[in-house]
Parts: sequence; C-alpha cells; structure tokens
Amino acid sequence: MAPYVLSEPYVAPTMDVVTKRDLKNQQPTVFEIETQPAADPVAEPVHEPTSKAVAQSVPEIAPETTEAPIPPAPATASPPKRRNGELGYFRNEELGEPIHTERHMRIVVCGAGASGLCFAYKLQRSFRNFTLNVFEKNPDISGTWFENRYPGCACDVPSHTYTFSWEPKPDWTAVYAGSAEIQTYFKGFATKHNLWQYITVNQQVTRAAWDDSTGEWTVDVLDTATNTTTRHVCDIFINASGILNNWRWPDIPGLKEFQGTLLHSANYDTSVDLTGKRVGLIGNGSSGIQILPAIQPVAAHVTTFIRSSTWVTPLRGFGQHVYSPEERNAFENEPGTLLAWRKQAETNVNLIFPMFLKGSKMQEVTRKAVTKQMQQKLQDAPELQEKLIPDWAFGCRRMTPGEGYLEALQKDNVAVVVGNVARITTTGCVSQTAGGLEQEHALDVLICATGFDVSFRPRFPILGRHGQNLQDLWAREAHSYMGTGAPEQPNYLHFLGPNCPIGAGPLVGAIEAQADYMLHWCDRWQTDRMHSFTPRRDAIADFAARTDVFMRDAIWAAGCRSWYKSHTVNGRVSALWPGSSMHFFEALAHPRHEDFDVVYRGNRFDWLGNGFSQTECDRTADLAYYIRESDAGAPFLSKGRIREQLTKSGTCQREVEDDNDDGEEKEWKAWC
Ligand SMILES: Cc1cc2nc3c(=O)[nH]c(=O)nc-3n(C[C@H](O)[C@H](O)[C@H](O)COP(=O)(O)OP(=O)(O)OC[C@H]3O[C@@H](n4cnc5c(N)ncnc54)[C@H](O)[C@@H]3O)c2cc1C
Ligand SMILES: NC(=O)c1ccc[n+]([C@@H]2O[C@H](COP(=O)([O-])OP(=O)(O)OC[C@H]3O[C@@H](n4cnc5c(N)ncnc54)[C@H](OP(=O)(O)O)[C@@H]3O)[C@@H](O)[C@H]2O)c1
Repeated sequence: MAPYVLSEPYVAPTMDVVTKRDLKNQQPTVFEIETQPAADPVAEPVHEPTSKAVAQSVPEIAPETTEAPIPPAPATASPPKRRNGELGYFRNEELGEPIHTERHMRIVVCGAGASGLCFAYKLQRSFRNFTLNVFEKNPDISGTWFENRYPGCACDVPSHTYTFSWEPKPDWTAVYAGSAEIQTYFKGFATKHNLWQYITVNQQVTRAAWDDSTGEWTVDVLDTATNTTTRHVCDIFINASGILNNWRWPDIPGLKEFQGTLLHSANYDTSVDLTGKRVGLIGNGSSGIQILPAIQPVAAHVTTFIRSSTWVTPLRGFGQHVYSPEERNAFENEPGTLLAWRKQAETNVNLIFPMFLKGSKMQEVTRKAVTKQMQQKLQDAPELQEKLIPDWAFGCRRMTPGEGYLEALQKDNVAVVVGNVARITTTGCVSQTAGGLEQEHALDVLICATGFDVSFRPRFPILGRHGQNLQDLWAREAHSYMGTGAPEQPNYLHFLGPNCPIGAGPLVGAIEAQADYMLHWCDRWQTDRMHSFTPRRDAIADFAARTDVFMRDAIWAAGCRSWYKSHTVNGRVSALWPGSSMHFFEALAHPRHEDFDVVYRGNRFDWLGNGFSQTECDRTADLAYYIRESDAGAPFLSKGRIREQLTKSGTCQREVEDDNDDGEEKEWKAWC
C-alpha cells in the first residue's frame, strides 16, 4: 500500500506546533522567581526545560497571602482571535495547542531523602517541560541516613527490600546494612540518575503560602550557610520533609544541667569516644535497641533506662547475615539470582500482614514463638524476662530485629534500670523504684534514644486556601487525604503523611506508590489546564472515619505506647494505613477525582485544545496505532484485570510450610 501522505494544508499548523515545542526544549533555563501574577491566566508561561535553581535573594519577606477568591471561569468566550498563519492558513489562537499539550510546570520539593529523590527521579523519567527544585536543609542528601549515624544504626528490614524497586544493589554487605551504606546507596542513586541538578543543599524551607488568585505557591527558603532567604514561586508544592525527622529530647527534669556529654541518637556526634566511659542510654525503641549492643563492648559501663517492655527478635527467615563474597558475586553476575532473592525477601515481608490483625492465627503463633525465643535468650535473667516481654500484641510497636540486644543486656558491664528516670543531675541520672526509692547513676555520657516529634504538624507555616495554616489545622489531630493530601492545601502533596503504611515493612514501596500518585496529579495539572486540585474536607473526614473502623481490629491499637499513636497508649492510630502495603499500592493506583475540588483556569474543556491530537502533530508517530492484529493488550482493563496482569496471577504457587503450624494457608483463606 502506498504510504499515506499528508496534504500541504495540514502540514502548516502541524509543523508550527512541533517546531515551537522543539525550540523551547533547547533553551537554557533560569529558574523563575516571579513576584507578579501572570497578567492573563489563560496565557501559558514560556516553556522551558528543567534546570538547577538560580536562587534570587529577597531583601524582605512579603506579608502573608490574604484571602483570595477562586478565579471565576470566563463568562462568555471572547470573539475568536484569528491570525494569518505564517504559511497563509488561519488558526484560531484562542483554542490553543493540540489536546493534552504539556504546559510548563514548576515544582518545589522540600527535602532530599528517599522520598524527594524518588519523586525527582520519576518526574525526570516521565515528564517534560518542567522546572524542579528540591531544597534540602542538611549539607548532604538522604535524610534519615545522613542524620542517624549513632553506633549500630542499620536497616530493620532486609536491605534488599530497602531499595527502589527498579534499582537493586547487588553488593549490600549484610541482610541489615548499616546507615552509612544506605546513605551511599541514595547518594549513588542521585549521582547515577543526574538528580543533583535539581537539588540544592543547606536550604531550609521556612514558609509556603498559596495564592488563589494566581494559583501559585510561594516558598521561602533560608540558606543556612549565608542566612539569607530566597523566594521561589511554583505551581505544585511537594512536602518530602520526613516523618522521623524532628528528633526530640526527653521531657525529664534537669536534662540541660547534665555536665557530661549529652547526645541524641538522631543527632549523634560520632567524634565522641566512649572507650572506658560510663554511659547512660535512655530508651528501648528501635534506636536504643541498636545502640546498646554496639556500645557495650567499648564502654566501661552502660546503664540503660527502660520505661516499657518491648518485643525483640528477628522474624522467621530474617536473621542477620553478612553476605559472603561468593553470594555477592552471584547477585552481581548470575542472571536472575538477585531478582529471585529480592522477590523472596519482599514476599516474606508481604506475607506477614495478617499478624497485625487482632485474633489472627499468625499473631498468636508469632507471639508464642517470639516469647519462646526471648525467654531462651534471657534464660539466665528471669527478672528481665518479666520486665521485658510485653503483655501486648507483637508488632504493636515497630518490630525490631534487635541483633545482640538481649545478649548485651546481660553483660557484666550493663545495668538495666526499669522505670522512669526521675531527674537528671549534673553528674548522672536519678531513677526511682516502684517503692519510691531513688538511686543516682553516675555517668560521663548520656545518650537519649528517645525518638522524634511525630505530631505531623508541619515545622514551618504552610498557608493554604484563604491563608489556612496547616500547622493550625493539624495542631490537635492530623487527618490527611489518604496519607498524601491535606485539608485546604491546593496543589500540595505530602510524602508519608498521616495514615500511611509505615508499620508493616519497608517504606520504600509506599514512597514509590505515593510518587506515582503525585505524578498523576502533576500530569492532570499540566495537561488539563487546571488551576488547582484540593482534597475535599468531607473526603478527608470519611477517610479518617473509615480508617478508625479498621483500626479497631488492628493490633496497633493494643496497649503499647508508640509513636504510631502520637506516643500514647490508647490514642488514635494516626500514623498507619488501614491495610497492608499492597493494599495501599492498589488504593493509590486509581486516583479518585470526585474527592477533590478541581478548579480550572478557564472553561473546564479548554484542554480539548485546537481539535488536533498531538499524534497528528508528531511526524514520527504511527497515525494508525490502534489498528492491530489481535485484541491483546486491550486499551481498557478493569481494576481487577489490571491487577491480575501486573501480578502475573496464575503463574505462582505460594509455598505452604511443611508443618503448617502457623496455619498460614488457612489464615489467608479466612481473611480473603
Ligand atoms: C533511625 C531510623 C531508622 C529507620 N530504619 C528504617 C528501615 O529500616 N526501614 C524502613 O523502611 N524505614 C526506616 N526508617 C524510616 C525512614 O525514615 C524511611 O524509610 C525513609 O528514609 C523516609 O524518607 P523521607 O525522604 O520521607 O524522609 P527523611 O529521610 O526523613 O528525609 C527528609 C528530608 O527532608 C529534609 N527536610 C526536612 N525539613 C526540611 C525543610 N524545612 N527544608 C528543607 N529540607 C527539609 C531533611 O533534612 C531530610 O533530608 C528509619 C527511620 C529512622 C529514623
Ligand atoms: N532501622 C531501624 O531498626 C530503626 C532504628 C531506629 C529507628 N527506626 C524508626 O524510627 C522509629 C523511632 O524509633 P526510636 O527508637 O528512635 O524512637 P521510639 O520508638 O519513639 O522510642 C523512644 C524510646 O525512648 C523512650 N523514652 C522517650 N521519652 C522518655 C522519657 N522521658 N523517659 C524515659 N524513656 C523515654 C521510649 O519509652 P516508651 O517506650 O516507654 O515510650 C522509647 O523506649 C522506629 O519506630 C522506626 O520506625 C528504625
């Protein structure tokens, strides 16, 4: 068949559009700092490719955004503006460009930890015509793994599950890799994918304010090296500032009077030499549990202050193991070996979800097994068994492998003090027994592994619609839109916000799912001529209510004190998702536009453009792409069919334990 040749009249507008876009993409870009709203809300800014920010200092900060009405849609279309096209053809300029043409999009991300990096990677991979600025307050990237360098700091999930799903690391040294190694992974990731071009370090976001009249966020950023503030305007503001990123001192009288060396696990001074010192360690959360076995062999004496019982043990199949050179070589060089290992580790993690449900067989069996293990490890210390083995459900607090912790507690140079620290003096800690007796413990160094402020209240003002400050809206309780959106905050998305799946395994999968979800909204904003998208209050309230119903049956609500419940015993489970991680992936995979207030720049159908498809304007595209030989890869699939395809349903046979003593198979059947 002769090739289909476009006749001349169609070529002119087509070429016009393609050429314009190509030229734009070649221009060097300077980051825009706009202080004036665009005069014409319909007119698009000049399209520019991405570049690193060129910050511009602002001498003084403008007053807070005042209430601004949502811009009304134009009442009637103005008479069409026609121009005599360059090649003599008429073109209705008012209609714009072809359908779904990507307009320029400016995004600011606060934070360059795993979340910020994941977002930058995915945006770069999948989008064009954007400007991205990632501001990081620290002098280096990777967040948690830059800040937490206390002795023993490591992953609490197998490291092979703590990588981006598409970016394996064959040379992890151990099942639970150390903090420095994890930081190296994230830094290497940023370098490999050329993400540094978007990132500026030593830049602390201090304020973000939405202006409804322009549909823009203004973000103030403090350069911590020069103490100057710059102002950046963007269309979408992404908060990736981390949930465990605001460490806190314990509320113990006299803390600041201590004249020895005072350290916090998340702000650790690695130059402090503990050799021969009398060290105090407060806390037996995940951090404290890792610190004790690391410092016990070095310090002359360690007094560890424990307020609550806690579960300590690696789960079945999750013991620490240093990979041999042969194993690492196989991961690197034998095709399929690493993938099989990663999939097995991930499968194991995904299999444990029923354990988090009250009355599940898996909870009962695991609890029994872990109790037995703890009893065995503490067999010479019955008093510790009594104090340490909880009477609440296993997994109520984040599970900790706790390699060597129970053993370290029983060493000769370790004293365990159970109960509250009554006060701190210039020379040590004073503990109080149940009978009210006080005892002073002399210390040279005091390490507070006392955790973080996890209130979800932002650490800087975020002033949304009508100036509503998220700090106020979330002062008492933080109700999010599916962990990702916040009330009254248009074009604002949040990583690991309230009620995300952070209790049942590695967080990287959740971060990836959230990044994809955010990109969905970026895509819609960019191609639908949108002004803003804001999660509706009623949707947020319904999500909170539905979450609370689920939590009644979850063991996280059981009687432990944990940061999942804002450091309370019986408070609302504000940190966790009402379901498994896989459940979260699927929930976020299909965004629900009806839960959002969507405002358009003009007519909601302006995105229809000039009546052309971009395909028609793309001279390299197949204009008959939908003509095919069979119906394989049908363009529409239901959610169920998509899931089946993605998960290769029907191709796996889940192995069932020989002894079947945990009733795993029956358990899944019962829940599903
Ligand atoms: C000690 C420790 C161990 C952990 N271990 C595990 C584990 O084994 N497995 C697991 O899945 N999860 C673990 N976590 C949870 C961990 O936080 C997440 O897995 C993940 O690293 C979160 O990434 P993030 O980018 O969302 O947050 P972070 O890593 O906290 O990064 C946030 C970044 O934002 C920056 N930032 C904050 N505020 C501002 C501001 N105002 N302006 C500019 N920048 C700002 C911070 O400096 C930081 O770099 C652990 C957490 C801690 C504290
Ligand atoms: N990879 C890992 O293994 C790892 C390591 C560290 C952290 N993390 C992550 O970070 C989270 C936080 O861990 P974290 O250990 O830093 O904090 P945490 O779980 O909140 O534990 C804080 C500890 O300090 C104690 N504490 C707090 N204030 C106290 C006070 N005034 N007096 C006495 N004791 C006090 C708490 O006692 P109570 O128990 O009585 O409240 C608790 O034992 C973890 O849940 C996990 O998600 C993971």
